[in-house]
Amino acid sequence: MSSIEQALSIIKPDAVERNLDNEIKEMFKHKGFKIIKDKKIQIAKNEAEQFYKVHETKPFYNDLCTYLSSGPIVVMVLEKENAVLGNRKLMGATNPKDAEDGTIRKKYGISIDKNSVHGSDSVENAKIEIDFFFKD
Ligand code: CMP
Repeated sequence: MSSIEQALSIIKPDAVERNLDNEIKEMFKHKGFKIIKDKKIQIAKNEAEQFYKVHETKPFYNDLCTYLSSGPIVVMVLEKENAVLGNRKLMGATNPKDAEDGTIRKKYGISIDKNSVHGSDSVENAKIEIDFFFKD
């Protein structure tokens, strides 16, 4: 069964720094995603730590949080049928070297850390992540 969903997407510092945010937004629109909300922000390290709390026991947690807070990011709410899975497909594998042709990470990703985009991994987490950035 398919249903309209929302997913949070983040264009990470490596991509914003290379001025790729508009090209990446076009890739989402081309695949039928509506960008319902978007803003360019820079977050503090403690906010990155909160956002990535699910990874707090991982060896890469500290570097990941330092990195996400190292420069401007673009946060977006994407909407379409099965947006969570569709976004994961369009992003490609976490490590750009494993990502398939046509995916954002294959096209723009530099490394497993500088992999250009983040996307919600489930509908449940999408709600939490959207609230994190867009709760007013
Ligand atoms: P993201 O989808 O934003 O979720 C967590 C991030 O941790 C991931 O993308 C990667 O950029 C980063 N990361 C660094 N090392 C690893 C690793 N070994 N496995 C998974 N993610 C990693």
